[in-house]
Amino acid sequence: MKKILVTGGLGYIGSHTVVELQAEGYDVLVVDNLSNSKEEVKARIEDISGQSLELQIADINDTNALESLFSKHQFDGVIHFAAHKAVGESVEHPVMYYQNNVSGLISLLGTMEKYGVSNLIFSSSCTVYGAATDLPVTESTQIQKAESPYGTTKILGEEIINDFAKHKGFKSILLRYFNPVGAHPSAKIGELPLGVPNNLIPYITQTAAGIREKLTVFGDDYNTEDGTCVRDYIHVVDLAKAHVKALSYCDKMSQNVDVFNVGTGKGNTVLEVINTFEKVNGVKLNYTIGSRRGGDIEQIYADTTKVNNLLGWSAKYGIADMMKHAWAWQQGLSD
Ligand code: NAD
Ligand code: WQD
Repeated sequence: MKKILVTGGLGYIGSHTVVELQAEGYDVLVVDNLSNSKEEVKARIEDISGQSLELQIADINDTNALESLFSKHQFDGVIHFAAHKAVGESVEHPVMYYQNNVSGLISLLGTMEKYGVSNLIFSSSCTVYGAATDLPVTESTQIQKAESPYGTTKILGEEIINDFAKHKGFKSILLRYFNPVGAHPSAKIGELPLGVPNNLIPYITQTAAGIREKLTVFGDDYNTEDGTCVRDYIHVVDLAKAHVKALSYCDKMSQNVDVFNVGTGKGNTVLEVINTFEKVNGVKLNYTIGSRRGGDIEQIYADTTKVNNLLGWSAKYGIADMMKHAWAWQQGLSD
């Protein structure tokens, strides 16, 4: 049985990935510092998978804690989710973002090198493409200077891994996620946004639940079908499954690093998302059209040919499932 270390495995995407790894017969150990998750997620994962999960509560910047884990366990691969992810917060606290996202990665890579562990799956983001003009974006679309320190940490992370893998004969896959949304169909795990959400789907579900008074659509004067921005929303369970595929591909790939877009390949406008949410859940949303949000790009969606062909992965869930599962999860939270 292969043993995988999952950093940030109690978080939103990590918890769903742990469920899929356990379902595919991997032995999983999670390291998480609970900075954006709760310890009870471990029991929820175990409830879904019917298997016990090893958890070490520690910070990946703590190299002594990491070394203690690597000395006790022989890992066959690492999936690295642990990072801060709020774009606005990164503008206010850039050093905190470089410390956690970049230094944390360096601490992890140094420990992997010391213990001879290869095979790293890294959580990158479509944010590296910035406001790409040619759509859909492929993996060879030009990377652009990031709009925020958060985005820079993803570009730097990719660069550091490229250098490290090339010179150390180490294998890594960079997954560029588009917009992960939804929750596990069991409604036992999902996203736990702290405070007022910045992202569209938690804002929608909290508005529907009466936690927020109304949703503001950020601009309807873009050059798109209905004037609102277009994104490639990807169900978190589909995204989780892509990590399992990436792990087995890592073993057999000839080059040191490869990169994949992970999206559905289809763009949806903000109004399409709202209308779908209302329709599939039979809930009326209180929303108004407001002005544009600074830094938003007009539209982006993925070319998924590479991930479809090489990883043998494609998204199974559509936007209706994403909205249904996001609402079921929110309702569980409001109980
Ligand atoms: P999340 O905040 O839900 O999960 C991250 C987990 O890592 C949390 O459980 C947190 O407690 C933990 N963590 C953070 N810093 C840590 C540290 N120093 N040591 C140990 N644990 C630490 O975030 P998520 O949405 O699951 O995102 C996972 C990864 O995917 C992140 O790297 C994020 O940047 C990336 N990503 C997310 C999105 C998105 O929209 N959610 C999109 C693209 C990329
Ligand atoms: C989606 C659309 C908004 C809230 C961010 C990060 C990106 C990645 C994913 C990590 C946009 C509109 C939103 C609201 C709205 N994260 N919106 N009203 O901005 O595409 O991407 O999360 O890597 O790096 O930037 O996602 O969910 O914030 O917005 O109209 O209250 O919804 O304008 O068009 P975004 P989002």
